Amino acid sequence: MTRLSGITPSGHVHLGNHLGAVRRWAADREPEDLFFVSDLHAMTIPHRPERLRALTRETFAILLGVGIEPDSVFVQSDLCGELGALNWVLECTCTFGEAARMIQFKEKAGGQDSVRVGLLTYPVLMSADILLQGATEVPVGTDQDQHVELARALARRFNSTFGEVFAVPKAVVPKTAASIRDLSDPGRKMAKSAQQSPGGVFVLDEPDVISRKFRRAVTDGESEIRYDPETRPGVANLLEILAACTGVSPYAAATSVDSYADLKDTVAAAVIEELRPVRERARELLDDPAELDRVRAQGAKRAAERGRPRLEAAMRVAGLR
Ligand code: TYM
Repeated sequence: MTRLSGITPSGHVHLGNHLGAVRRWAADREPEDLFFVSDLHAMTIPHRPERLRALTRETFAILLGVGIEPDSVFVQSDLCGELGALNWVLECTCTFGEAARMIQFKEKAGGQDSVRVGLLTYPVLMSADILLQGATEVPVGTDQDQHVELARALARRFNSTFGEVFAVPKAVVPKTAASIRDLSDPGRKMAKSAQQSPGGVFVLDEPDVISRKFRRAVTDGESEIRYDPETRPGVANLLEILAACTGVSPYAAATSVDSYADLKDTVAAAVIEELRPVRERARELLDDPAELDRVRAQGAKRAAERGRPRLEAAMRVAGLR
């Protein structure tokens, strides 16, 4: 089994990223695992170069801060030669209809006058990330499930058309915390773009900021605390966060608190404890740029060496070279 997954530095890493994906990457470690900062993906919407560079660094430090092995991390653009080549081969394997069907494309492109082609083809680049490394499991939150399905379809199609080159990957979505909601608007998922929203909790937030955000979380007018995501999404979200931080089910979490104020305080305390070590280690690393650069260069070398033979094989069977 080879696990691989990525995170896009389009904003600060939030609690949804942490609980739904990143912290699972640090668990059950295998030497073949690869996790990376997908900075190329952050260019699909307007971006500022200096901010992208800073967020890439910050996100990289968080991956290390959460406990992922330095041997298993890299930055996507450090492999842009290999990925760019495979991306083209896969774009010529994917149909326009398949790319245009992606829910995230429809959501992000909807209502915009001008949409970058990269926003449409981004899941193909994501397939290149996965297939280049022969990943068999892709630990992600619910919102990336469809993209991993595309990678599966492209791997199968390429293999049956030209010859067996790629492992067929599958998404691994967690039972709890697969889609953490914004605290002030549980109708939408917590997102990096919610930087200005009072309902976004970020991994590097200080404890007092986290407490304040939870105190203001939207709940509802009912008195009983019950886990019911359909009809009571605000309370369910808090219970899911509490459950993910304490290792119990959301139903059990509901019985451990006796009022909304108690629930909010308990969740805030659990989140602060969950994030404290990550924040502290990430901050230490951010104060040591030379060490971050060293780990980054080493990770890039390892990932590129690992992916190159597969890229060569794909090009050869497709009639190139
Ligand atoms: P990104 O940066 O949007 O999200 C990183 C991971 O966090 C998960 N996630 C969430 N989980 C629970 N609740 C939420 N509110 C929430 N928001 C995000 C995502 O599902 C994801 O697992 N395109 C990808 C990065 C990527 C990638 C890849 C992933 C690039 N190449 C190859 C897997 C394999 C992205 O932008 O994730």
